[in-house]
Amino acid sequence: MPLSRSLSMSSLPGLEDWEDEFDLENTVLFEVAWEVANKVGGIYTVLQTKAKVTGDEWGDNYYLVGPYTEQGVRTQVELLEPPTPALKRTLDSMNSKGCKVYFGRWLIEGGPLVVLLDVGASAWALERWKGELWDTCNIGVPWYDREANDAVLFGFLTTWFLGEVGPAAVPSHAFPSPPRNEMPIGPWARGWLVERPSPRAFWESWRNEARDLPPHMPDIVTPNGLNVKKFSAMHEFQNLHAQSKARIQEFVRGHFYGHLDFNLDKTLYFFIAGRYEFSNKGADVFLEALARLNYLLRVNGSELTVVTFFIMPARTNNFNVETLKGQAVRKQLWDTANTVKEKFGRKLYESLLVGSLPDMNKMLDKEDFTIMKRAIFATQRQSFPPVCTHNMLDDSSDPILTSIRRIGLFNSSADRVKVIFHPEFLSSTSPLLPVDYEEFVRGCHLGVFPSYYEPWGYTPGECTVMGIPSISTNLSGFGCFMEEHIADPSAYGIYILDRRFRSLDDSCSQLTSFLYSFCQQSRRQRIIQRNRTERLSDLLDWKYLGRVGRPPCIPSGPFKKSFIPLLQADLL
Ligand code: UDP
Ligand code: G6P
Repeated sequence: MPLSRSLSMSSLPGLEDWEDEFDLENTVLFEVAWEVANKVGGIYTVLQTKAKVTGDEWGDNYYLVGPYTEQGVRTQVELLEPPTPALKRTLDSMNSKGCKVYFGRWLIEGGPLVVLLDVGASAWALERWKGELWDTCNIGVPWYDREANDAVLFGFLTTWFLGEVGPAAVPSHAFPSPPRNEMPIGPWARGWLVERPSPRAFWESWRNEARDLPPHMPDIVTPNGLNVKKFSAMHEFQNLHAQSKARIQEFVRGHFYGHLDFNLDKTLYFFIAGRYEFSNKGADVFLEALARLNYLLRVNGSELTVVTFFIMPARTNNFNVETLKGQAVRKQLWDTANTVKEKFGRKLYESLLVGSLPDMNKMLDKEDFTIMKRAIFATQRQSFPPVCTHNMLDDSSDPILTSIRRIGLFNSSADRVKVIFHPEFLSSTSPLLPVDYEEFVRGCHLGVFPSYYEPWGYTPGECTVMGIPSISTNLSGFGCFMEEHIADPSAYGIYILDRRFRSLDDSCSQLTSFLYSFCQQSRRQRIIQRNRTERLSDLLDWKYLGRVGRPPCIPSGPFKKSFIPLLQADLL
């Protein structure tokens, strides 16, 4: 279970109830999260995409509180002096008592102010704080669990910080125990640590989970939004799909060199992406369903090929040679074709200049054939195209690779489903697949996120705003939210897998049938479906979800249950 959870604390539809209690003008908003200037997964996306909307509303009264990481500060934070006496006093006080607390501006859109707490520097207090956690909440944390230890340190440091900075709490202790219940802070910070041990949290969706948080129920729970980029013309995002798909196709040409015996025009790209939690993220079910899909496509003689990407960071020592070679071979073929084309073009030009049609038999000479043959020879390979793009440190025990070995999806020619495991987040500076995540998603056909545990889950929402259909589950916040707000989600390319009420095997069969029916769509049907998916973007836009005190936060439109979803034009 991740420690990176935090509930979004600004964007509080319903905050008007609080107005009696608080003078909002004089209220300072602290948003506490492990992923402030520290990318791990979806919470980073929450913070990054919302910072501007929240900043516009709260101005300088908005602070993010996160962990100090050297890398994060070096690459994305400008360190500053604290702007208010209260903050300066707090930082000085904590720093004089053995903590390391930093202040700065996070260099993202909206430029929010950040307080960064160095958990490593406070390790001296770990045992004591763990003891307190046990005494007060009966939450035990094993000594060897680094992630949980960091959560304890970060949680207590945060409480300490909030206690000192709050006007009502001026702790008098020299060796401070984080003050509790002494200042008028919202409940969010107090319930922070408990996702991990809460047993119900394991299977409930984000909303139920948040309601379980002891010792307080949260007053407000918000869905997670995105910054939606609207294009003036509808077809623009469709063009982007085609352009991005071409980039992915280039990679595939290289990766499958020597085995390009399938038609790229009849190839679909599926993917799963996120932190590498094999079962929580449903990679286990996905692999099983892919094996079944492979079987179905084969026995039904389908001409279609499905290339499936697993984008989940694992421990590696860089790209493997075979994978890099694939791109080098592709580039060499491209260069060879261009060299020959140049010579061909020049001869053609010379011939036309003197008023004659060229003798086609003389257009290419022996040397041209030699370099072309040499290039073709270089594409021969003994092995199947690799499943994994990197050298894995734990190759033999890696769960994805172990499953692939068991189900036998080895990228053989007979396989209609190919698998590529890219155990690193994507980057446009990669020598292998130089696209960023957004471009990659746009170029794919279907995002598959069959999570068994997902308080919200950004990845399917990101697909939606880019007009890419996705599969999520009724154990994810996103899936539940969509089920609640849309009459017929699958008509909009939002497939919601039942992982709550079905057995693993039944969920897997349902996933297989989603995948197989998706494969049976024509290009035209896919285009229409992408248009429909994109129409749901507003539903996930911070513009609507991020407003304080102005419910309802869900925009009206063709989303409500009562709406009969399909316009006539959609049915074409
Ligand atoms: N992501 C990314 N680069 C990648 C793959 C994924 O930045 O190559 C991001 C993705 O945009 C998403 C996040 O990782 O915002 C995963 O968030 P999600 O809520 O789905 O899962 P979490 O990691 O929070 O459990
Ligand atoms: C977009 C482009 C079309 C292209 C299509 C491919 O809609 O605008 O020109 O034909 O994508 O769709 P497909 O689902 O086959 O990748």
